[in-house]
Amino acid sequence: MNPATPKDRQPARLLIETGSPEETEALGMAIAGLLPRGAVLALFGDLAAGKTCLTRGLTRCLAQGIGAHSPTFTLVNQYGEDPIIYHLDLYRLSGPDELADLGYEEWFDSQGICIIEWAERAEGLLPEPCIRIHLSHGGEDKRHIEIQAAGVLPEGWESHLREALCLTDGVESPELGTN
Ligand SMILES: Nc1ncnc2c1ncn2[C@@H]1O[C@H](COP(=O)(O)OP(=O)(O)OP(=O)(O)O)[C@@H](O)[C@H]1O
Ligand SMILES: [Mg+2]
Repeated sequence: MNPATPKDRQPARLLIETGSPEETEALGMAIAGLLPRGAVLALFGDLAAGKTCLTRGLTRCLAQGIGAHSPTFTLVNQYGEDPIIYHLDLYRLSGPDELADLGYEEWFDSQGICIIEWAERAEGLLPEPCIRIHLSHGGEDKRHIEIQAAGVLPEGWESHLREALCLTDGVESPELGTN
């Protein structure tokens, strides 16, 4: 796993490259340890980019070891109790209008944790601030994961995540670029 943020800047986002599903799951677990109640995580990215994998790491930590699976016949899966985890997969959603008709506020404004796959489909309805995570393919088993979490995760979240994942600070990836 490689960080991709230069040393001399306070990043508004953290770029990480994972090299396996296990590393992406570990990233989810590390994020889980920092999440406040009511957090909404918007996951963006193509098919098989690793959104469910990251979600699995989150639920393993937050919902007594449960490994998440994408909701197949419903829009939302619910895990755990304290906090309740709502796991939405909006792949089949026609657009924000349909989500509004379904009463999305129950999930977005809860005191639990709300994880949204295919958050592109909910653009315009996503709460501010929310955690935005963009995942993309980096060739074979590599995934590029960009996290923006200002205003939701506590100050210093980038360093906390680096430490939790045992990453060295200051390694820059030209492929990913920096902010
Ligand atoms: N570094 C990696 N991180 C995550 N998944 C990886 C990685 N390398 C390979 N994979 C594989 O890519 C796939 C990711 O699947 P996953 O269901 O998490 O994607 P997804 O973004 O949720 O896709 P979908 O849009 O279909 O819901 C899995 O088959 C996993 O084994
Ligand atoms: Mg998925």
